[in-house]
Amino acid sequence: MSYTAKIGPSILNSDLACLGAECSRMLDCGADYLHLDVMDGHFVPNITFGPPVVECLRTQLGPQPFFDMHMMVSRPEQWVRPMAAAGASQYTFHLEATSNPGPLIKDIRESGMKVGLGIKPGTTVEELAPWAAQIDMALVMTVEPGFGGQKFMEDMMPKVNWLRTQFPSLDIEVDGGVGPDSIHKCAEAGANMIVSGSAIMKSADPRSVISLLRAACAEAIQKRSLDR
Ligand code: DX5
Ligand code: ZN
Repeated sequence: MSYTAKIGPSILNSDLACLGAECSRMLDCGADYLHLDVMDGHFVPNITFGPPVVECLRTQLGPQPFFDMHMMVSRPEQWVRPMAAAGASQYTFHLEATSNPGPLIKDIRESGMKVGLGIKPGTTVEELAPWAAQIDMALVMTVEPGFGGQKFMEDMMPKVNWLRTQFPSLDIEVDGGVGPDSIHKCAEAGANMIVSGSAIMKSADPRSVISLLRAACAEAIQKRSLDR
């Protein structure tokens, strides 16, 4: 088993007027990576930021931190090169946003980034499966994308479980409403990359929340490997 538990705070619900400082604070509190939510007002009913902001974050935070770009955009093909140039580490696009994932996956790799592929709650995991061997990470959304602070959809867990069974070493990310109350469901289903926004950002002790999430996930991974 090659995957490990990683926690990626989503900065969407942070103080966006101090984005760089909020990212640093998360890294200081033990974040394994940063989950950066890009929204274009078209694929989702909200707008956030694009490559120029990512470039400033990369300059401020240095080469080390892993930036997982959650691209909630129509025409994801358009932003591959600009995001790579801005310093993105992984380009996670939505299956619903493209009719042709193959060339897009290739382009992301050729740009030097890792490839993530996400599905919204209404998309089946069987639609993602044909691409699983070509990607680094599958993202199972556990809310409708667009806003932080929504309720976790537990009925997405069979998707995670199915993916984990079919692709034992794939990185599987969950995103939306994940925090101390829902982490056990995610971890037991087989998720290993955990995005958490409000549960971490709104906590008075984000360090403890991050360690709690990681410990729950690591414990489930350990158990899974013993059960095999
Ligand atoms: C929602 C975003 C999420 C969101 C997570 O569309 O993709 O990353 O910010 O925030 P919480 O954990 O508050 O649901
Ligand atoms: Zn996200």
